[in-house]
Amino acid sequence: MEKDLISIMDVKDEINDILELAASQKASWKKGKRDEPLKNLSLGMIFEKPSTRTRVSFEVGMTQFGGHSLYLSPNDLQMGRGETIADTAKVLSRFVDGIMYRAFDYRVMRELADNATVPVINGLDDLEHPCQILADLLTIKEHKGKLRNLRLVYLGDGNNVCNSLLFGCATVGMDIIACVPEGYEPDAGILEKAKGLATKYKTLVEVSHEPQAAVKGADVLYTDVWVSMGEDDEKGEKERKFGPFQINKALVDGAKPDCIVLHCLPAHRGVEITDEVIDGKNSVVFDQAENRLHAQKAIMYLLMKKE
Ligand code: CP
Ligand code: NVA
Repeated sequence: MEKDLISIMDVKDEINDILELAASQKASWKKGKRDEPLKNLSLGMIFEKPSTRTRVSFEVGMTQFGGHSLYLSPNDLQMGRGETIADTAKVLSRFVDGIMYRAFDYRVMRELADNATVPVINGLDDLEHPCQILADLLTIKEHKGKLRNLRLVYLGDGNNVCNSLLFGCATVGMDIIACVPEGYEPDAGILEKAKGLATKYKTLVEVSHEPQAAVKGADVLYTDVWVSMGEDDEKGEKERKFGPFQINKALVDGAKPDCIVLHCLPAHRGVEITDEVIDGKNSVVFDQAENRLHAQKAIMYLLMKKE
């Protein structure tokens, strides 16, 4: 196992183990079983951007495991006054047993990981959101009983979530179509690597610009905000171009009748997804949100537990 989880590819050989561990820990927690595998350990959490799910799930996960977490905002750290990311990584490594980082720039994420002697977990950067995708796969497996040979259609912006989904789906044997407006394709390097994985694992990785055609035969529809954090200046242009990619009743009706609808949240209701769909019978978005906790507990257990 790698020291860090920066890209979902860092756990490509362990995805199924992580999902099994998450499912079994979730079941034991719900049965009232309490053990504390991370007792007395600490997780430092640096957030350069806001968060509801990532922050709360990591914090609660550490509490449930008998450990402790610290919320660290760059404005309160000396990082905000010019201390380097490398020095921050070296110093934090002397205090805490793991670092979760939500960053603007994946290169800074990598620099933190390279200089930290403790595991670093990516809580979202501009390129990927690996913890989210592990929770998504857990949710799909719970609802569909399998991952292999399903078809997932991602609609909207070819962003960090889309990039990690390409890697994640191709690795577990699920077909994925990234259906995005022209000019908003996922990262070219990631797409190329995901296509390589698709050949290896005999799955399909495709980009489409035609929502109605793409959703045919879909088992899973997935969307995310059209405007990611830090990209607010693109709002007007995107809302003009992205209309046909909204997940609404017409698109859901074009997929398989038992398709499930996912959204990593936060949702902009009435923009990338309608109220009718997000509150409707196909939606599993709140199961998906809860699974952030269970997936991340499995990740922390595997990366941080001392022998
Ligand atoms: N999905 C997700 O990462 O949500 P937050 O931004 O609230 O953490
Ligand atoms: N793509 C979104 C995900 C939010 C969880 C963003 O980066 O803002």
